[in-house]
This record gives sequence, structure tokens and C-alpha cells, in this order.
Amino acid sequence: MKGGITIARRKGAKRRAEKRDWADLAEEQAKINLDSFPDQDWSEFEADDDRSEIEKHEKSIDKQLEKLDQAGSKFHWMKEKKYAQMFGQIEHKLTGALGVGKYDWVDRRVFDQVFDQSTLMAIYKLMQQDHIDTIEWPIARGKEAHVFYATSQSGPIAVKIFHTSNAVFKGLMQYIEGDPRFGGLRRRHRELVNVWVQKEHRNLTRMRKHGVRTPESLVTYKNVLVMEYLGDENGPSPRLRDVDVEDPEEVFKSLLEQLRIIWQDAGLAHADFSEYNIMLHQGKTWIIDAGQAVVENHPKSKEFLVRDITRLVQWANRNGVDADLAESTLYVIEE
Ligand SMILES: Nc1ncnc2c1ncn2[C@@H]1O[C@H](COP(=O)(O)OP(=O)(O)OP(=O)(O)O)[C@@H](O)[C@H]1O
Ligand SMILES: [Mg+2]
Repeated sequence: MKGGITIARRKGAKRRAEKRDWADLAEEQAKINLDSFPDQDWSEFEADDDRSEIEKHEKSIDKQLEKLDQAGSKFHWMKEKKYAQMFGQIEHKLTGALGVGKYDWVDRRVFDQVFDQSTLMAIYKLMQQDHIDTIEWPIARGKEAHVFYATSQSGPIAVKIFHTSNAVFKGLMQYIEGDPRFGGLRRRHRELVNVWVQKEHRNLTRMRKHGVRTPESLVTYKNVLVMEYLGDENGPSPRLRDVDVEDPEEVFKSLLEQLRIIWQDAGLAHADFSEYNIMLHQGKTWIIDAGQAVVENHPKSKEFLVRDITRLVQWANRNGVDADLAESTLYVIEE
């Protein structure tokens, strides 16, 4: 883009930033996560049929449900009439997640991890209210959330779905659930996740209001956050991590300025400022992933701020910019 930051995609980073499908994601997931579910027999979860696309489309909801049911008793609830109806209404809008249509392969592990009952209900509601039209394909799988490319009536959107139960929590659950002394823990965990989503929404909105380039957070419901999509039809814009920038000093200065605005004007410390959470979109740096950001009177805000600045200075130094931590810190905090 004219006048913007010039970048080249780094070798090996190309695929990550391109449009991805479940197979990609599953490959990654297999590396990362399989050991976290030691007791699970994954063989049932493989896509086992080679029926044609058309036949797949024709599969009745019942069959779909049966299959999900076989894949784990977790999906029993879907058979209940009201849920079956509800699911029937949104099923065709979740083709990317269900592995029908264009996407002929689905990894049940991913499906299981993301689309539990409460999440499907949240998505149902967001679809009913026209905030989401379809969920198309996964952009990224993070520790705490999956981000999907999705559509709405006004165009593409990014949908960040936070995991309601992480692997660690799942493992611990078996020792806790059923013990009457600790009832409701699962619910409380979910509530915590919901609060986290609210926090990300508010942090993004607050930063944006003060002129920080962040994706606009459009709506949240339960563990789902709908935001502006940074990218084009071919895939999301790259992260700073994925590219070599032509003028690192320009990027450094622009990011230091953003940190200054976040601190001085928005009164926040981002607290996870890194090349993984900065995207390069339309020739500019954009800051994402703000769930962990804290207000300045948080007891650790200054510690987080210094860590953010340190990471930025380190990035700059690695890229040949003569940046100094003390000087940069002063620039950010001095009024
Ligand atoms: N609005 C958006 N438009 C396009 N892509 C996005 C958007 N938001 C996030 N992404 C992509 O999804 C990835 C994960 O997003 P984010 O960092 O918010 O989630 P996360 O689960 O906190 O990730 P992690 O735990 O790895 O930090 C990002 O690195 C980016 O590639
Ligand atoms: Mg992130």
C-alpha cells in the first residue's frame, strides 16, 4: 500500500498467513495437543466415509447427530428436539466447522474443543440476531481461543471463540466433578471465560476510542467475540512475526507511539505486546489480542508496561534498529 509499511513474507511463514482449512489446523493440533488428552481413543474421530460431496450434503440432520453422538456422548444433548431444531437451523452455516460442502474433512478433536453445547447456543443466538451469517474457516488456533473467518450481512468478520474448557482444566475436572464440596466449578470456569471475553471487548474498544489501531470489536456473547476482520478473501493479514519489514525503524517508532497512546490516553497496559499480537494490515501496524490488558492502577500495570516495551525494543534490536530501553520507556511514560 502506498505510503505504508513495506513487507516481505518470511520464508516458511507463508502458509500460516494464508487461508487454512481443518487439515492444516489438525496437523498443528496433533503436534501440540494430542498428549493433553491421553485417555481419548481418537480413531473414532477420523473422517471415515468416502461418500460424494452431494451425498454428504443430503445427509439428514439425524445422521449428522448420530455421528456426533458416536464421536462422544458429549453430543447427546443435540438429539433433544429443541436442540436438534436449533442445530438444524444453523448447521448449513457452519460448513467449515462440520466438514461438509467445500470442506470435506473435519477433525472432531477441534470440533469437540470449540463447539460445545453452550458455544453452539451462543453462536445460534448471534446468528439469529444477524451478527454472524456463516462461519467459514479457521484462521488460527491459540491457547485460549480459535479465531474463524466468518461472514455477516455487512461483509467478512473475525469470530474469536474462547475455549470453555481447556485441556488442563478438563484433566483436573474428573477429580472434582461429582465431589459435592466443589459443585458448580465447571459453571464458574465458564463464567470466568465470559468475563475474559468482556474484558477483551472493552479493552479493544477503549484502545480504539483513543486512536489505537485495533480491530473494531462488534459484539460479544458468552464466550464468542465478533470483530472486524483484518485481511482479504485470500486470508488474514500477516503478523509482524511472519514478515520481514523493509524499514524496521519506522515500524518500531509507530509501535512505540501506539504503546504511548495505550498507556497515556487509554490508561492501559497491553500486557502481551509481541510480534505475535501485532498484525500488518493495509500498510499499518494493528494491535490485537487485548484480553489480558489491564488498567493503569492495576498493581502490576507498570511491570507489564515495561515488559511490553522491552519486547518491542528487543524486536527492534534484532532487526538492526538502535533502540534503547530507558529512552523508549521514557518516551512512553513521559507526559
Ligand atoms: N481481527 C482479526 N482478523 C484477522 N485475523 C485475526 C484477527 N484477530 C486475530 N487474528 C488471527 O488469529 C490469531 C489468534 O488471535 P489472538 O492472538 O487474538 O488469539 P489468542 O488465542 O489469544 O492467541 P494466542 O493464545 O496464540 O496469543 C492471530 O495471531 C491472528 O493471526
Ligand atoms: Mg495472540
